[in-house]
Parts: sequence; structure tokens; C-alpha cells
Amino acid sequence: MRIVMTSSEAYPFSKTGGLGDVASALCRALNELGHEVWLFVPHYPRLYEQNRDRLPALEKTGMFVEIPIASKSVRGELLWTQLPHSDVTVMCVHQPHYFDRDSLYTHNGRDYGDNCERFSFFSRAVMEICRRLIVRPDVLHANDWQTGLIPALLAVEYRAQPEFRHTASVLTIHNLAFQGRFWHWDMLLTGLDWKYFNWQQMESYGQLNLLKTGLSFADKITTVSPTYAQEIQTEIAGHGLHGLLHDRRDDLVGILNGIDSRIWNAAFDPALSAHYDAANVEQGKADCKQDLQQQLGLPQRGDVPVFGMISRMTDQKGFDLILAIADELLTLDLQLVFLGQGEASIEHQLTELQRRYPQKVSATIGFSEELAHRIEAGSDLYLMPSRFEPCGLNQLYSLAYGTLPIVHKTGGLADSVRDASDENLADGTATGFVFDHYRPGALQFQIERALSLYSDRTMWYRLVRTAMTRDFSWRRSAEKYLSVYRAARERHVRHP
Ligand code: ADP
Ligand code: GLC
Repeated sequence: MRIVMTSSEAYPFSKTGGLGDVASALCRALNELGHEVWLFVPHYPRLYEQNRDRLPALEKTGMFVEIPIASKSVRGELLWTQLPHSDVTVMCVHQPHYFDRDSLYTHNGRDYGDNCERFSFFSRAVMEICRRLIVRPDVLHANDWQTGLIPALLAVEYRAQPEFRHTASVLTIHNLAFQGRFWHWDMLLTGLDWKYFNWQQMESYGQLNLLKTGLSFADKITTVSPTYAQEIQTEIAGHGLHGLLHDRRDDLVGILNGIDSRIWNAAFDPALSAHYDAANVEQGKADCKQDLQQQLGLPQRGDVPVFGMISRMTDQKGFDLILAIADELLTLDLQLVFLGQGEASIEHQLTELQRRYPQKVSATIGFSEELAHRIEAGSDLYLMPSRFEPCGLNQLYSLAYGTLPIVHKTGGLADSVRDASDENLADGTATGFVFDHYRPGALQFQIERALSLYSDRTMWYRLVRTAMTRDFSWRRSAEKYLSVYRAARERHVRHP
């Protein structure tokens, strides 16, 4: 199959969260299964320059596109490279006015005012480039609101072109909380007719909604875990789109994300000072822990349990629960290690916690891929008490690194972590600690359970080894995406 993947971010070129990891890992896995994959991303020159030494070189193709945006015509240039360790072609759309900025979507905590224009341009550029290069994709795969316009452009404008006659579209929801909502006049930027600005297609509560646009026009919809696929059909987690998602339930599939074992593998992770697998995890993790404590200026003690957390600092991720119990928790003998950035109030409260408990808390505000890997390896436990979590990758990385996760039972967390209940302990399937109700006391109770199990070293390492040997390979998930692609193509033939 020839698959065109479109995403606003892809590791190692750009990444703010899980979407970046997933876009490239899924492309690589599909390619390893023998499929031809083209990955389209915007080119963010500043990010590229910062990481130039570890990125493959970008080459000019000499191709330019002129994209109509309202009354303007905007020129973009096509650059290309290859996704490392694969035959995936990466097409980078270069438009410095839109994408040569310090961050991807926001400035000083606020969305860029021209986000609709930026990503309408990118979506149209993808379509134009595919047409001009006669790519003839079997599947156009869009991800989140930033590329939500693509299924609509295919259905409304490009379907008649011979280059797209047999192309089906799939849209993946990574996070329904971000929908790309804009005032109605931004319809002009999309270039689509006002007749599509209606409650069944592009309009939602009076606004233009790019995620809804994608959901309405895509042949098939996926999201990143089976539980989240159910949750988003309910009012409580549907962020206003539950009705549409429920109506399209026969076309909606939840596929759990995987682990890219080339990037997240404790046996050869270049960010780590010691390497390990399930067989020598005790020594390997002890070395990584000591190294992490030293790097962060925490007391270097092997016996103290270290809790890690790497996260966008937003309401989604459950910092309110942690902050509510922090003082009580810090009466215990433990260390808390945070890495993240986001809302100023969360950043401030964690920095303050570190100031008050310098021997027990480390809070690094910023983005560091390397430190993220070192925290995964050097911690004993991982905190992920998210209010909601479409899939979550850090709990998967934690399992693979033998760092037992403590999670709220929601979305992909519910689908990937097995609670250390008596039953699961007895049958050897437990891999972490799961709480049902989103309350500070419920999190605290699980932390205390975890600490009591931590003191039983034999039992603890039994869980660690079970966690490390769980199979979250992308191969399995990529096969499920392939069945969705086939179903999308069949649906497209039945309902052209
Ligand atoms: P989300 O996509 O909602 O942010 P995920 O758990 O799916 O959550 O993925 C988060 C990804 O981003 C992980 O790879 C995580 O390690 C990474 N990440 C998040 N914040 C940081 C940070 N401050 N520094 C480095 N990596 C980060
Ligand atoms: C989103 C979700 C996260 C998911 C990631 C990749 O950002 O918040 O749960 O793992 O996308 O799919």
C-alpha cells in the first residue's frame, strides 16, 4: 500500500508531545511491514538548527507550490529527507513566515493568532504536492486538528482528479481536547465553500472546527486506545463532539500506541550511563538511579524510592492531585523528579516545592529529550495520574524501562497497566498501580501501596520483569492500522 502520513510534528525533527513520537514510529513500523510510506510535516527551521547534528540532512527538491489562502497566494518550498533507520520519505513543507518560529503552536502560553491559516496552508500544500508528484496514495492519513482539513479537501476538491481517484482518508484523534476552533470568518482561509459551514460538517457551536471537519469527512476514524474510543462517545469525555463520534461509531476504532524500540530501549539507549534488560535490571537501574540523582543534585541513595514524571504541564496530566498531597507525601522517605513545561502556575508550584524540599524534590522546567530518557531509567516508579489520557506514552516507556507506573484508570492508561491487585499479583500479570476515582486520596493510597510493595525486593522485581517483558511493539499496532486502511478503501468504494 502507498500511505501518505501527515502530521504537524514528527520526532526527531519536531516534537511537543506524543504525536511527534507516534507519527514517525508508526511510519517506520508500516514501512517495516513492506509498505511505501511518505511522511509530510512542516519544516520548523529553528528547531532543526538546534538539533542539526543529530538530524539527517534536508535536501532541496527544487519544487515550489503556490497555495491560495483567502485573497493571497502563499509560496511554499518542498524539502526532503529520509526518516532515520527506514525507507520512509519525509517531505518537509518550508514556509518561513508560518513555521520559522520559536515554538510550534503557542507563544507565551497563547495560541498563535494565525494557526488556522498556518495549518490550512500546510494541508493544502500536502494535497498540491501529492497531485503534482502523482503520488497516487492509497490512503491519506491525517492526525489531529492541524491536518483535519485534509479529508475534506480530498472529498470536496481533489476527488475528481485522477491522482486521487482511489485514495481513502483516515483521521486519528490523539487528543479531543484540542480541536482547532476558530472564528467563523476563518472559513475564508480554508478556501472551502460556505455551504460546508453547517453543524454536520465544519461548524461547531458557531465556530469553525478543524477536528470536526476531519471527523466528518474521513472515511475512517481512529483514536489511540480502545478505552478512549468508548469514552469519547460520552458527554463527559466527548468535548462536545460525542454525538458525532457516536453516530460514526461503526467507523471509529481504538488502536493502542506502541513503543519505538529503537528510541526507547534501556539495552542501548545512548542517553544512559548503564544499560540493562530484564535479566540484569537490578544493577542497571541502580546505576542509572545514582547517575540521575547526581545529575539533579539529589542525595545519592540507592535505597530511597524515586518517583519520576515527564509531562506537558497542563490540567490534563493530574498535577492538581500531586500538589494536593505533596506535603504529606514528602514526610515519607522518597524523592520526586519532575521534567516538563506548560502552564505557568504548575511550573511555579513545582519550582516552589523544589525550593522547600531541596533534598527530596527536583523540578526541571523545560524540554529535554535526554533527561526524559534518564528519568525513565533512573526512577523506580512513574507518576501518571492524568485526568484523562487518550493513550499516553510515558507509562509504556516506563514499563519497558522497569519503572512501575501509578496511573488513573482512564483511556490508554487503563488499557496498558495491570494493577497490583491480589489476583494479578497471584497470577503474575501485575505491572503497576491503578486508581479508579480521580481524587487526591486515591492517588495517595496507591503511592502507599506501591511503597509497601517496594520494600519487598523479591516481589518488586517480579513486577518489574513482568512490566519489561510486556509486548507493546509498534508492529502489532501497525497491523491494526493496515486493517483500518483496507476498511477505509472498501468504504470509499461503497460510498464514493
Ligand atoms: P502527550 O502527548 O499528551 O503530551 P504522551 O505520554 O503521549 O503525552 O507523550 C509525551 C511525550 O513527550 C513523551 O515522549 C515524553 O517523554 C515527551 N515529553 C513531554 N514533556 C517533555 C519534556 N519536558 N522534555 C522531554 N520530553 C517530554
Ligand atoms: C496525545 C495524548 C496522548 C497520546 C498522544 C499520542 O497528545 O494526550 O495520550 O499518547 O497524543 O497519541
